[in-house]
Amino acid sequence: MSHGIEFGYVEFTVSDPVALGATLTSVAGLLPGSDPGQGIWAYRNDDVDRRVFVRGGERNDCSTLGFVAVSEEAFEKVTQRLGATGFPLREGTDEEASLRGARHVRVGSTPWGLNFELALDLTNSSTAFSSPLVTGGFQTAGVGVGHTALAVLDFAESERFLLEGLSMVQSDWVETDIMDGIELEVRFYHCNSRHHSVALAKVPFDLGKVLHHFQMEVNERDDVGYAFDRAWAAGMEFANGLGVHDNEGAFSFYVTTSAGFLLEVGHGTKKVYDPWDGNRKYDSISRWGHQPLARP
Ligand SMILES: [Fe+2]
Repeated sequence: MSHGIEFGYVEFTVSDPVALGATLTSVAGLLPGSDPGQGIWAYRNDDVDRRVFVRGGERNDCSTLGFVAVSEEAFEKVTQRLGATGFPLREGTDEEASLRGARHVRVGSTPWGLNFELALDLTNSSTAFSSPLVTGGFQTAGVGVGHTALAVLDFAESERFLLEGLSMVQSDWVETDIMDGIELEVRFYHCNSRHHSVALAKVPFDLGKVLHHFQMEVNERDDVGYAFDRAWAAGMEFANGLGVHDNEGAFSFYVTTSAGFLLEVGHGTKKVYDPWDGNRKYDSISRWGHQPLARP
């Protein structure tokens, strides 16, 4: 599938960066990236030097979504399209580009209140990625760092940002009753063969956090299980135990990070193709599992 952009990097602003860093490395199996300075930590899940940024602050949420253009042509095209649809980007400074390890960065914001960056040419680490914990590695080639699921108040404008601004395509959606009379609607969007890089959940009021979860995909099914065991041994809270998602087909689990948002480790998510003919409604989030998991 030819594509113009990938979800290249993510930044979290949290009150306990050390605790989140420990979860990213000791549980999820990421490696440290080179030190960006400025009191910011960087981690990676492939050869790209900086994929996940953690900075100190009371927000305890995602703060920046970074998409990387696959070519200069795509970089210009996406910039123009965002501008034409009412989401202009400004030129990033050399410092902003250097922080991301990018040749060039343009900066804007999303309708759901996060910073948005469009980057060109992310720098690779001087060493090939090899995680002692995730020996099979993470699935990132041509699909980016992972995916995010976000709770948004202005759904129409948020969707317009993705569909019109970024030319993303809806993969499918879920409508399900989570409690008597309370319906959950989540829509999933792709910009390459990853089933979704962004999912939007409609929420009726401010939940105090935009990020529901950040997911990374491992290449080997057993690496989901090993990550589960490490999270268990670390005493983490499991928001959802092992299960398989109905629409995307991923085998995964969710832990609650010290910042309150969730981290999902998954495997086996279905690929989308072009033209995509799988856009339909699903009635449930999970085929099986993903129950809240109480610790003894
Ligand atoms: Fe997910």
